[in-house]
Amino acid sequence: VAVTGISGRVGSHVARRLCADGFAVRGLTRNPPIAGTRQAGLTIHKADLDSCHSLGGSFEGCAGLVLITADGPRQTAQAANAITAARTAGIKRLVVISAMLAGETPPLSFGVNHARIEQMARESGLAWTILRPSFFMQTLEMFAGPVRHIGRLIVPARDGVVAFVHLDDVADAVAACLKENATAGHTAVLTGSEALSFGDVAAVMAEHWGRPIRHLALPRWLARLILPCAPGLNGWMARRLVALFEALDEGRESRVCPDLAHLISKPPRRLSAYLDVARPRFNLSAASANGTDSSL
Ligand SMILES: NC(=O)c1ccc[n+]([C@@H]2O[C@H](COP(=O)([O-])OP(=O)(O)OC[C@H]3O[C@@H](n4cnc5c(N)ncnc54)[C@H](OP(=O)(O)O)[C@@H]3O)[C@@H](O)[C@H]2O)c1
Repeated sequence: VAVTGISGRVGSHVARRLCADGFAVRGLTRNPPIAGTRQAGLTIHKADLDSCHSLGGSFEGCAGLVLITADGPRQTAQAANAITAARTAGIKRLVVISAMLAGETPPLSFGVNHARIEQMARESGLAWTILRPSFFMQTLEMFAGPVRHIGRLIVPARDGVVAFVHLDDVADAVAACLKENATAGHTAVLTGSEALSFGDVAAVMAEHWGRPIRHLALPRWLARLILPCAPGLNGWMARRLVALFEALDEGRESRVCPDLAHLISKPPRRLSAYLDVARPRFNLSAASANGTDSSL
């Protein structure tokens, strides 16, 4: 099975799950080798989704493709290149990582690109399954810095609730789809089993980690000003992030859906399961190394 975006959050979780289940995985990245990806069953392959030429041969001998594409202005073109190369290589099975907002139509959301990619998948002639995850619990790590330094979960959202999903569950769903052909032709919305506001998330963090942590809603106008200057974010991404948080406040990712539990035959993991392992990523134990202090 070929997996694009192998060095990213979703790709790395998916690769671990598939290898553990005995799949032979070919992970695509522009920059091999990738630290921490040595595992039985995984081979890393250099390829750039922007270049049809570099994709030649990337999918030869693979039976399936897990299509994970990075958010950005070239995302739909990259997905089109991958799907074309997969068909040329004779791949039959396609699992697409989309997003819950692909079912919505706000003009700036990440869902717009995903809706286009979903359409391409449906028209590809491959046996497709589309997975639309909600906001990943792991994406909360984006806000780790202020949680660590001042005990505030600073997010440009007020009181909207979100059915956060655990990436291990998303990976389990991908594995289930590849094992079960009956999922072909279906679109599944992947959410956790509880919908929480960011205030709730801060309260669960505080209780779980025994620290005073509170949610602070960054005004949207201020987010529009400072996000484009945050490390690693450009204007394209910043505008869509603000739109995403607006959508969250409108409750567009608040619906708890049964699809994930059906796919993986167990209840999705709760936030506390993520917090059990996330403490070092918020670097809360000591003022030591390896924090994931990022955008904010
Ligand atoms: N974050 C969330 O909460 C959330 C929720 C629902 C859905 N999603 C969706 O999940 C998807 C993946 O997100 P993620 O968090 O895993 O992203 P990520 O961590 O930023 O990873 C992006 C991956 O894309 C690869 N990539 C970028 N440009 C490439 C190119 N030209 N050719 C080949 N590979 C390229 C990168 O690989 P190299 O740099 O190594 O080449 C990297 O592995 C996105 O489509 C997003 O919309 C995210």
